[in-house]
Amino acid sequence: MLYSEKVMDHFMNPRNVGKLDDADGIGEVGNAKCGDIMKIYIKVDNGLISDVKFQTFGCGSAIASSSMATELIKGKPVHQALELTNKAVVEALEGLPAHKIHCSVLAEEAIKCAIEDYQMKKSC
Ligand code: FES
Repeated sequence: MLYSEKVMDHFMNPRNVGKLDDADGIGEVGNAKCGDIMKIYIKVDNGLISDVKFQTFGCGSAIASSSMATELIKGKPVHQALELTNKAVVEALEGLPAHKIHCSVLAEEAIKCAIEDYQMKKSC
């Protein structure tokens, strides 16, 4: 089978879908080649990612990657969330086909972007 059960599960029942109106940080990234767009919203309390939501306009692997990535950073310290790699997302999803690895990269980038947005706002 092309996709693991984990990928299918997170694609069919994505966790943390939606937006946070009171987000502390928002990250939006896109892939120019495929045209997919991913947006991540984070809420931070006492240095922890207390809530996270995503909106992904893209392929099934991008949706599964965002869902898994949000699960992996939820409740984690900000510095730890910043270290999340696309490799960790792919491992948690029990693999992605080679031509779909860039979908997981989008999730890593969107999270980093949301955290940078949070850190910038905090320092003002
Ligand atoms: Fe581009 Fe999946 S095909 S993010």
